Amino acid sequence: MHYLITGGAGFIGSNLTNALSNEHHVVVIDDLSMGKLENINESDNVTFIKGSVTDKALMEKVLSEHSFDYIFHLAAVASVADSVERPMETHQVNFVSVLNLLDLVQKTQKDLKRLVFSSSAAVYGDEPTLPKHEESVIRPLTPYAIDKFAAEKYVLVYNNLYGIPTSAVRFFNVFGPNQNPESPYSGVISIILDRYERAKRGEESSFTLFGDGKQTRDFVYIEDVLQALLLVATKEEACGQVFNVGTQNKTTLTDLLTYLDELVGIHLPVQYEEERSGDIKDSYADVSKLMGIGYKPNHTVTEGLEKYLKTL
Ligand code: UD1
Repeated sequence: MHYLITGGAGFIGSNLTNALSNEHHVVVIDDLSMGKLENINESDNVTFIKGSVTDKALMEKVLSEHSFDYIFHLAAVASVADSVERPMETHQVNFVSVLNLLDLVQKTQKDLKRLVFSSSAAVYGDEPTLPKHEESVIRPLTPYAIDKFAAEKYVLVYNNLYGIPTSAVRFFNVFGPNQNPESPYSGVISIILDRYERAKRGEESSFTLFGDGKQTRDFVYIEDVLQALLLVATKEEACGQVFNVGTQNKTTLTDLLTYLDELVGIHLPVQYEEERSGDIKDSYADVSKLMGIGYKPNHTVTEGLEKYLKTL
């Protein structure tokens, strides 16, 4: 099979590339703005193209030169804060590139089996009803969330109107290897583990917790996310549909830190700061729709953390 993975050197993209490249040919497009080449395992089955999904000429070239079976569009500016600071620029990546890709797919990809678009739990915003199911109220609060929701809708409408085989997924809080901890808006688990690493090296290290630690998240381990992506891509009944990707469990940040102190064997000092503006208090996914196509999350948050720690 022939795969295109945009953002294939990033966190989720590189894990997907590495899982597929044993048996399949994968073309990766990544501008390496957050992703890293070393995230991708050495393999003759991977063709890496450094470039942005906003480069129309490049995208046209790649799509006209290849016939793909599956496309995973994972490239995005994943930082919500960045979208608030630079809405025009992030809109090009998070929305315009999707519409451009859909247009090119329609023109060039006659044998495509599925295009999967990565949306976000951010589309639900701060509407308090829990758990979030796919039909819950949508209340996007940031340019990031608006772009994800609009792009997701376009992706599904292309299925409805033009028969392009598409699906979308709304990721909750994904964690695992290759998540870049370098930005203050990186996933909280990657930041916490970076602080433990510093402590292990003997550096003075602490974790800054925004809020009281009672906020909850649905932390889903990358291997379960890969399982979800492959099911959504291959199940006939997933075509034209959007799915939450989480575990249906919620964990407070305080509990997360307690588990990690125990697993790492170090007590990480915590500094409490004001809650971040726009921070969502509680979030977790109803995953029954995904379970309906065969999904079964195999990792509790502690099991995921244990596996993740072994890779460091
Ligand atoms: C996550 C996604 C975001 C998506 C949103 C949808 C990531 C990186 N972000 O945001 O793209 O829009 O879900 O619901 O996956 N925290 C600290 N200290 C830190 C960093 C974070 O206390 O140094 C706190 C945050 O304030 C928050 C919690 O940890 O309360 C989780 O933060 P984060 O991992 O950034 O994820 P979300 O805010 O849930």
